[in-house]
Amino acid sequence: MRNRPFFTCSAIVVGALFLTSLSSSAQFVGNNPQAVDKRVDDLLAKMTLDEKIDLIGGDTPFRTHSIPRLDIPYFQMADGPVGAHIPAPTIAYAAGIGLAASWDRALALSVGQQLGRDSRSRGAAFLLGPGVNIYRAPMNGRNFEYFGEDPFLASAIAVGYIRGVQQEGVSATVKHYLGNNSEYLRHDSDSIIDERTLREIYMPVFEAAVKTAKVGAIMDSYNITNGEHMTQNGRLNITVAKDQWHFPGIIMSDWVSTYDTAATAKGGLDLEMPFGVYFSKEKILPLLKDGTITQAEIDEKVRRILRVAVDFGWLDRPQMDTSIPRYNLDGRTASLQAALEGAVLLKNDNNALPLNKTALKTIAVIGPTATQTVTTGGGSGEVVSFANANLLVGISNFVGPQTKVLYARGLHSVNQMSRLTRFTTDAQGTTPGVSHTTFAKANLEGDVTGTVTETAMLTAGSTRREPEEQELNALTSHKSASPYVRTTTSSRWTGYYTPAEAGKFAIFVQTDGKYRLLVDDAIVFDSSVVPKYILNQTTLALTQAPHKVVLEQLSQQIGSVSGMRVGIAPLSTIVEKDALEMASHADTVVLAVGFNASSESEGGDRTFELPVGQEQLIQQITALGKKTIVFITSGGSVDISNWKDKVQGIFETWYAGEEGGTAAARLLFGEDNPSGHLPISWEKKITDNPSYRNYYPDAGTNKIVYREGIFVGYRGYEHNHVEPQYPFGFGLSYTTFSFSKLKSTASVDGHMTITCDVTNTGNRLGATVAQLYVGQESATVDRPSKELKGFERIVLQPGETEHVSFSLDPRSFSYFDVKSSSWRADAGAYDLTLGDSSQDTQQKITVRLEKPLTSSISE
Ligand code: BGC
Repeated sequence: MRNRPFFTCSAIVVGALFLTSLSSSAQFVGNNPQAVDKRVDDLLAKMTLDEKIDLIGGDTPFRTHSIPRLDIPYFQMADGPVGAHIPAPTIAYAAGIGLAASWDRALALSVGQQLGRDSRSRGAAFLLGPGVNIYRAPMNGRNFEYFGEDPFLASAIAVGYIRGVQQEGVSATVKHYLGNNSEYLRHDSDSIIDERTLREIYMPVFEAAVKTAKVGAIMDSYNITNGEHMTQNGRLNITVAKDQWHFPGIIMSDWVSTYDTAATAKGGLDLEMPFGVYFSKEKILPLLKDGTITQAEIDEKVRRILRVAVDFGWLDRPQMDTSIPRYNLDGRTASLQAALEGAVLLKNDNNALPLNKTALKTIAVIGPTATQTVTTGGGSGEVVSFANANLLVGISNFVGPQTKVLYARGLHSVNQMSRLTRFTTDAQGTTPGVSHTTFAKANLEGDVTGTVTETAMLTAGSTRREPEEQELNALTSHKSASPYVRTTTSSRWTGYYTPAEAGKFAIFVQTDGKYRLLVDDAIVFDSSVVPKYILNQTTLALTQAPHKVVLEQLSQQIGSVSGMRVGIAPLSTIVEKDALEMASHADTVVLAVGFNASSESEGGDRTFELPVGQEQLIQQITALGKKTIVFITSGGSVDISNWKDKVQGIFETWYAGEEGGTAAARLLFGEDNPSGHLPISWEKKITDNPSYRNYYPDAGTNKIVYREGIFVGYRGYEHNHVEPQYPFGFGLSYTTFSFSKLKSTASVDGHMTITCDVTNTGNRLGATVAQLYVGQESATVDRPSKELKGFERIVLQPGETEHVSFSLDPRSFSYFDVKSSSWRADAGAYDLTLGDSSQDTQQKITVRLEKPLTSSISE
């Protein structure tokens, strides 16, 4: 198991008393709600107070307590969201952002079903997924788990996923509710989001999970939102989720995200995970005694847990289904399909693609992401699979022995670069090593606890254990287990670096927690307040003299990066010569760049720039003048500005899962036709991102003020009149499509049917996504010029036409009216545009709402 993040206690603000009204239409999988609630009440009546308190706090990190006296088993959880991986190994699916890039509801359902089967084959009652936080900016280390920037697309994918999981008798757990749109300082940051923005951008996916997909559980996030930690945020947990949306299920905490017993008990949390620390007998009984917490409040939590258990059938059958193969080949097929449909072809100059397999004699596959063994980003979403077809394997298998496939990594790993950096302890450059001083407290304060000489500026971190052993640990460790105990120390490493010759050097730090890097006493990276990136890098010009390098690890690492490393590499030699030589032998070069589980991960953010040395690798390979096709692995956009014009093709493949290489080869050689469309807008430069200026906390505070409001992603680009590199919804194909005959029926109380024809005008089978956007003309409130309100993925033979229809309803035309706390669509004209991206407006009509419409927040 990865190191657990440590939690920080913050000031306690107990919210107002919120009372929860239970919905009478409780249901998750279609049982009679009255019968379910009757059985729940009968069970509840038999439980002792001690048993009730046991049930509302975890027993082992991924299990609730069992109550054998009443035949209540423990309910096991499998972490998600891109593989049911407790226990691993398991099937690794294409990551959430890639699933969203497929724009395929049916695929989301089938991936969900397979995740449900994987969960059942491991005895899990809950799958901890999907993750649905909206993408504000590419830096968020967990974007890869989520469904992109648009609430309508993300809702559709989440609903399919959840329905699929739940059809298999497993409760999905939609996470992380709410305002968790970055990973740095995630326990302490306060997301300040105005009501309209919450309702229109950040809540709808959770709302759809509750109202449409009938999700069994919601996971509260670590952060504070609008002044209150989420696990004690009565307004968002009780008033919004339970009362307004009538959520009948369980709100559970994220792992170690509780901070206060009374506030949490009264603020809507039902289940504390991984252990009942704040929901323990020692803490709850005195508060019950003095009247701070009521018995009814405890019963309410127990009732919700039992309701989910009864409805999903967990009290009536073993949850472990031993007839389902754990190496699930149907899951593998779904994983492949998601990798095929999610890959986005961003560039294809002069039809450089698809490649012709028979004409190719030698192909060079170069780059650090060509042979990854873990196919996801890092953190709790990291999935170890039984088998894995990476890019090199996928391409080699596809072309067979008649084509030579040469491979080089092209760059050392960050770990190797750090080991190869020769430091000396003295300024004369004579004694090899670095000196490492440890301090008893954070910020290099307290007693010096030791000074030692080490060989390099790095720590090894945890050695990866066998997946089965991780599982044992996850299922058996107890709340006294050391990873949950917080200690705070700090460290300083000092070394001198003497270049063999003067020149330009890449310098990097890979760590998390707060830190600073100084070279010759000048600050190079200052992450002492906001730890911005878990892998930070820059280029420095250095003379041929000893340079003092100091890393100050000011707070202890939080576990998103295993170990710490600092390195310096001359740009002149950073790219492996062998790689260039191989590329020079090849007819075509496939360059595999991007991030991996230790550079893009939960618990920290990443840079917009590609990791250390990759720019140089691309520049030097493209200088050879070969046909070069780039495959990017990342959870979102990356900086391609310096090289996009030098390569002939670019695929964004996200984290494509265990069949990612098979899918990539089939797309590269045209066996399948690319059909993924971006679920995000892609920046030309990071400062263009509409959230950029508001992404970090205001100086001197913990407040992340979402000042861009509703203008996130394409809504913001259009509002700010900034051109993205690639717009939301964009994706190329090897065939072409046209859209025609956009029509609407008349509005009946805001309901109307929109139809259009989509034709494959090229000469290959292919799929496109018809995207319908709605924008109000002459709006009296600030509104985006267009918003996605309908889409359909259509597969067409050459020359074939399909008639497509979309249903719009009052919500499709509405904004959230804060004053009346309801959805409101003004009377007047609305522009409907249709095409295959947010900027493709080849079809446009205007429709009218004759009278204003209002819908309630509970509808
Ligand atoms: C993550 C959750 C995850 C949980 C259990 C937390 O750190 O934020 O998404 O489900 O750990 O591993």
